[in-house]
Amino acid sequence: MDGSSNITRRLFTQAGIIAGGALALSGCAWTPRNAGSQQATGSSQDNAHTGSSSGASVVGGGATIDDGFVLVQGGTFTMGSPADEPWRSDDEVQHEVTVSDFYLSPTEVSQLEYGTLMSAGSGGEDVPVADVSWYDAIAYCNALSVEAGLEPAYTVDGEDVTWNLAADGYRLPTEAEWEYACRAGTTGPFNLDHSISAEEANYYGHYPYEIEGNYFDQDVLDVKPGVYRGECIASASFAPNAWGFYDMHGNVAEWVWDYYGAYDESGLQDPTGPNTGSLRVNRGGGWNDFAKNLRSGYRASLTPTSSSPSVGFRIARSAVLREGVVGGKTTNAATSGEPLVVFFSWSGNTRLIAREVASQLGVEAVELVCEQPYSTDYNTCLDEAQRDQNQQARPALVTQIENMSRYGTVYLGYPNWWASIPMPVATFLESYDFSGKEIKPFCSNGGGGLGQSVTAISKLAPTAHVGQGLSIYYSGGSDMPQQVADWLEK
Ligand SMILES: Cc1cc2nc3c(=O)[nH]c(=O)nc-3n(C[C@H](O)[C@H](O)[C@H](O)COP(=O)(O)O)c2cc1C
Repeated sequence: MDGSSNITRRLFTQAGIIAGGALALSGCAWTPRNAGSQQATGSSQDNAHTGSSSGASVVGGGATIDDGFVLVQGGTFTMGSPADEPWRSDDEVQHEVTVSDFYLSPTEVSQLEYGTLMSAGSGGEDVPVADVSWYDAIAYCNALSVEAGLEPAYTVDGEDVTWNLAADGYRLPTEAEWEYACRAGTTGPFNLDHSISAEEANYYGHYPYEIEGNYFDQDVLDVKPGVYRGECIASASFAPNAWGFYDMHGNVAEWVWDYYGAYDESGLQDPTGPNTGSLRVNRGGGWNDFAKNLRSGYRASLTPTSSSPSVGFRIARSAVLREGVVGGKTTNAATSGEPLVVFFSWSGNTRLIAREVASQLGVEAVELVCEQPYSTDYNTCLDEAQRDQNQQARPALVTQIENMSRYGTVYLGYPNWWASIPMPVATFLESYDFSGKEIKPFCSNGGGGLGQSVTAISKLAPTAHVGQGLSIYYSGGSDMPQQVADWLEK
């Protein structure tokens, strides 16, 4: 490591965090390394696969709809990412998929559109709506269909939703349609011919693609660290992709129709995903995601009742109406069993929060202790944690939970490490059977919120019901007990 990088690290240590302390530094988002220069925009237009962007179309009953949606010409493409794509996950298996023509909105649903239709109040006019559950998105689609005189696509029965493929109304895109439209004919990690910069998308710009292994050798990076805006910004602030879609990478991640599960690789026509599950997929990454989680092939998943300040949605309409109904059972957690509060903490903030959670529930909190603890030196810990995340290590734990079967809800606390969970939490999740249990995540962080941690938990404990997460800035200060009480009450 050279001298200048040591300086960078020292500066960050002073500005961002005091190890070992349960402190909250006001207005200071977690930033371990200095940001470098940014890269300019460059995107070409190629509308060969899209129809008129006016989107006027005649639907089922003969009504003309002119909603500005883009007609995407169907076709066959390779969904998923190649095995050698950096930061690719095992669930992105490449396979051929064919999609029929469909209409897709060029932008994400805005706060104004959502607030007006759903009587939910509205914020910035052009800013995408976020913090909406998958069910909220479904309800919006149906309400908009009714308003437009179209047949609603969805029937909602409690937590089970079916989609009538013959309906001409508004709907979420399928995961396959979303990826087809995002890629717009490209095959790389992003829908550009280079990595995406913070001048081309709204994301956690301090962490461009492949920064993870190259903090001290940034010359090799295609795109250098750039601005982190820390919030949603107006839609269409950047150039669209080659087919005219804005913000397919970043700003808000987008709910799609599909339950999360392994891909059916059998060369499907218009796949609609598994018929049952506990999680729904969202795509594209949001304002607080690292670039690796904006990739065209990256799959995030959350419980459909949960919401996140960085997840919204974009809507579609079928151009080809088909016969049939898809959808099925949403699997839920059992509500019986004792509560378990379990946490990992490095510098003490999560420990404080965990003790508050446990005290309000009237139980003891259990700490996850590693056989080989991370260094108490902050900079060394950063490196060790980064190494473990790059390798997806599973550090051995001293802590064992006796008789896990007696617990119903597991309150799981951890610090946000590199926008996800610390790897000891992954060890814990893979050590037990969480079938039928509910996991409620709570996360201490330095400004990145829950990051991708809830998706990581959902993928590591796929048979659990992963509830709404609680994000606390460092230790949360004097407000923390109330934040915990409000969260427990939900
Ligand atoms: C290795 C490491 C990685 C971190 N990564 C992030 C991050 O990506 N985003 C963020 O907001 N905070 C990050 N932080 C800050 C911690 O989430 C924050 O300081 C938290 O309060 C620590 O909780 P603890 O005291 O329970 O360990 C990181 C801290 C460490 C030590």
